[in-house]
Amino acid sequence: MKSESEHQQQTQADTSHQSENKAADIQQEVGATIGQPFVKQPKMQARHVDVFYGEKQAIYDVSLDLGKNEVVALIGPSGCGKSTFLRCMNRMNDTIPICRVSGMITLDDEDIYAEDMDPVLLRARVGMVFQKPNPFPKSIYDNVAYGARLHGLAFNKAELDEIVITSLQKAGLFDEVRDRLHEPGTGLSGGQQQRLCIARTIAVSPEVILMDEPASALDPIATAIIEELIDELRQNYTIAIVTHSMQQAARVSQRTAYFHLGKLVEIGATNQIFTNPLHELTENYITGRFG
Ligand SMILES: Nc1ncnc2c1ncn2[C@@H]1O[C@H](COP(=O)(O)OP(=O)(O)O)[C@@H](O)[C@H]1O
Ligand SMILES: [Mg+2]
Repeated sequence: MKSESEHQQQTQADTSHQSENKAADIQQEVGATIGQPFVKQPKMQARHVDVFYGEKQAIYDVSLDLGKNEVVALIGPSGCGKSTFLRCMNRMNDTIPICRVSGMITLDDEDIYAEDMDPVLLRARVGMVFQKPNPFPKSIYDNVAYGARLHGLAFNKAELDEIVITSLQKAGLFDEVRDRLHEPGTGLSGGQQQRLCIARTIAVSPEVILMDEPASALDPIATAIIEELIDELRQNYTIAIVTHSMQQAARVSQRTAYFHLGKLVEIGATNQIFTNPLHELTENYITGRFG
């Protein structure tokens, strides 16, 4: 007969074995992506993208288009690879030494991982806005002018002024800061800082904007302003936004992609994903049974 402690050990072993199996089962269940990952007018195309951190795989065979003038929401439980996937799209993962990306990602049919692609120029074309507003310790003006100066987009002060002002206007911030352009960006409220970061991103005339939970640190009023802004930006840009708020995904996006354990489980029109998800895992997530 087993002693009490042996029995306990056995039970623990069983449970951990079970949970490992469960993770494996879920991976199996995911299968091929359900829905239509491709669009008629793609701006960016990801094909068979795998991402590894060292030995650990974080993204499995993801294929997905970002279309012109659309907002795609990326949703799914924490750790499912949303940020990792987003970072692949402008080679931000290059800055993580153990990270390895395979597969193909194009911007206007150009391979963004090609040897002759300059990642700094790429990141001007495919800009990124982070969860936590990260203004530089510079004035409001210099924050927005930063990229334009770096890339030599203005030939004189008047041109630079023009870029700074129009970017702040597009980001819906100009009226609030017009009298203090030379005060530090870090002195603004959280919501204003996030709009400042959006202005800084827009100032280099990107084609695509990647947003990683851009409103998660903001209050409801600042969030509403950012959401309105995203809808306006869609006229001129392609946008991918990671969000934990399903209401936000529903409000700002036209298509929604559901990620689970590094796989793209389902993608479809946002309305369909939220009212009639086809995969059980998507349904569990949006009805709050998971994640
Ligand atoms: N810099 C990193 N180094 C090692 N592992 C990472 C790194 N960033 C993310 N991961 C791992 O990759 C997986 C996906 O993470 P992430 O993309 O941050 O997910 P999400 O944004 O959906 O929460 C997780 O298992 C996470 O631990
Ligand atoms: Mg994330």
